[in-house]
Amino acid sequence: MRDTTGIRSLTPHGHVGFDTFPDQLVKKSLQQGFTFNILCIGETGLGKSTLINSLFNTNFDGTQTSHALPGVRLRSNIFELQEKNVKLKLTLVETVGYGDQINKEDSFKTIVDYIDTQFESYLQEELKVQRSLSAFHDTRIHACLYLICPTGHGLKSIDLLCMKKLDNKVNIIPVIAKSDVISKAELQHFKIKVMSELVANGIQIYQFPTDDENVAELNANMNKQVPFAVVGSTDTIKFGNKMIRARQYTWGIVQVENENHCDFVKLREMLLRTNMEDLREQTHSCHYQLYRRLRLEQMGFSDLGADNKPVPFHENYEKKRQEQLELLQQREEEMRQSFVFRVKEKESELKEAEKSLLTKYENMNKQLEQEKHKIEDQNKKLEEEMNDFNKKKEVFLHAQNQPQSHGLTLGWGKKK
Ligand code: GTP
Ligand code: MG
Repeated sequence: MRDTTGIRSLTPHGHVGFDTFPDQLVKKSLQQGFTFNILCIGETGLGKSTLINSLFNTNFDGTQTSHALPGVRLRSNIFELQEKNVKLKLTLVETVGYGDQINKEDSFKTIVDYIDTQFESYLQEELKVQRSLSAFHDTRIHACLYLICPTGHGLKSIDLLCMKKLDNKVNIIPVIAKSDVISKAELQHFKIKVMSELVANGIQIYQFPTDDENVAELNANMNKQVPFAVVGSTDTIKFGNKMIRARQYTWGIVQVENENHCDFVKLREMLLRTNMEDLREQTHSCHYQLYRRLRLEQMGFSDLGADNKPVPFHENYEKKRQEQLELLQQREEEMRQSFVFRVKEKESELKEAEKSLLTKYENMNKQLEQEKHKIEDQNKKLEEEMNDFNKKKEVFLHAQNQPQSHGLTLGWGKKK
């Protein structure tokens, strides 16, 4: 039998063996292990570390932060977890100093940059001629838990601003933190307010997928309960005959994993047990693809021609290469012309300098000549004076040697 595409559908008569294909995939995935990366955004002391510890039922020992940091930072830690034969490489990224600055405008910048940097390093690996994506440690953020302050008054401007900047880069799961501090009635009202503010500001949060019939009903139901109101704790308390994670107060205990007390179990179910693969898939096929497309377009690559019709990649590449080559030649010509111009300029400058030096030399020569004449004149004069003197001296000496008969007396050489 042929379908509309002309492909015949057949069933082999005996067992061929390709039904083991899913098992082969599972085996390979188990060998390779999985990576999952969570970004937890929330104001200082809002319970980020406690929530993460509760989610993975372990203690990742995070240090507490002061409220006096000048800017927002991100603290990233990588852990290797194993549950039965499944290995998980988990990257946990927590904001540090979020919401503590007077000017909150730039709080999201560090976070946006971090997410882009992870996309960029994946893209660089993908673009390598000899790439090795299976060995590459993929640090792209798969889920962003955005912790909302349990004020009961709706979202703060920093929440809206940050989520708006991130919603096309990461799967945002909004979570009301420390929900034990808010009453049940207030909480319902608060949840509705948060959701309506998100919709009013056009912020896209992650939707649990409803296309897989096995989980469609569960996910659709959970989508209605977002934002989950959670409670976290690092303490375990003896309850009946088992130890449970809880917060103990003077008036009683709040059990983290009790669905009547908070939505922690729903969050864990949705994040780790039902939709982990979808979160990874969405990150790759939606958020990363958007980043990749924009970056490739920035580099000058596109699958579309000038008339917006699909064009094979290599044709666009060849065209771009030609354009670059022409641009390069044009730049080379410009540089050559500017070089020739500068050489000529320098040459005329040098000629000018030579000319002025020559004039200076001639002037100095003239001056020297004049000085020489002057000295010669003075020499002549001096010689004449010397001759004059010598003559007078001779006359005097001659007169001294004569007998003093003529009664001539000269005063020279007389001793006192
Ligand atoms: P920094 O990393 O310093 O920003 O803090 P953080 O957001 O990681 O908060 P952390 O988990 O260190 O918790 C801060 C304080 O809040 C601790 O005293 C926790 O016990 C408390 N806390 C955490 N989760 C909850 C919660 O669900 N309810 C209440 N009432 N307190 C909580
Ligand atoms: Mg912390």
